[in-house]
Amino acid sequence: MTAQILDGKAVGARIRAGLADRIMALPFRPGLRVVRVGEDPASVVYVRSKDRAAKEAGYDSETILLPEDVAESTLLETIAGLNADPAVDGILVQLPLPKHIDAQKVLEAVDPAKDVDGFHPVNAGRLAAGLPGLVPCTPKGVMHLLAEAGVKLSGARAVVLGRSAIVGRPMAALLLAADATVTMLHSRSRDIAAECRRAEVLVAAVGRANMVQGDWVAPGAVVIDVGINRKPDGKLTGDVDFEAASQHAGWITPVPGGVGPMTIACLLENTLEAALARRA
Ligand code: GUN
Repeated sequence: MTAQILDGKAVGARIRAGLADRIMALPFRPGLRVVRVGEDPASVVYVRSKDRAAKEAGYDSETILLPEDVAESTLLETIAGLNADPAVDGILVQLPLPKHIDAQKVLEAVDPAKDVDGFHPVNAGRLAAGLPGLVPCTPKGVMHLLAEAGVKLSGARAVVLGRSAIVGRPMAALLLAADATVTMLHSRSRDIAAECRRAEVLVAAVGRANMVQGDWVAPGAVVIDVGINRKPDGKLTGDVDFEAASQHAGWITPVPGGVGPMTIACLLENTLEAALARRA
């Protein structure tokens, strides 16, 4: 079997075009502020992509740049200012933050109503409790891709590899909310390969290049690769051995061009959602 490709670039572009149409019809432009601290090379690229995509879709988007050695108190004051600004609907603080800053304290400083990353404990808690709220962009994007592949999640065996607060945990909550039977695997799990082989839907989000081998994938399974790992030659690769897994899977996401573009599309979706809720 050779898997069909789940093209996140195309799906993400379609979502962004739909958002642009909706925003054109609004009497206001949803406001997004992305805060970047320092010059982490990956963050520079990601933040630029987010800002560009937001502007293209008609958002009022600005990037706030703070120096690497900024005081934590200054960053918290910046966030307080954005919380209080009526033109701002969505706030995103790009991670990672420098070591001298308590990232959790910063994420908790964002008004949950403007928390378009869905990282505030209020939003994480609402998701865990099965309540509506702002949902982290990457797992939300994965749900769009699963819908695109026509996957019937109700009763399906879903395996989430990785338990991060940003992807694994919210991913499992979303799959559970869609009535899948969810197994979470992590660094202390036993028989990881055998557990993955039972998956009808396999989401890999561990950040270990090519960890998921071809024979970990059940025939016809849907494989979603959230990993973005840089190889020694500078090229990107996922958490899944793509070539080998493609011989077993029914659907598979490439890296790059799979989940990544969906994260940005969902950030814009969340920003519109936050704007409509705030301004209702
Ligand atoms: N760094 C890597 N991915 C993300 C993300 O989705 N949101 C934020 N804020 N920082 C990140």
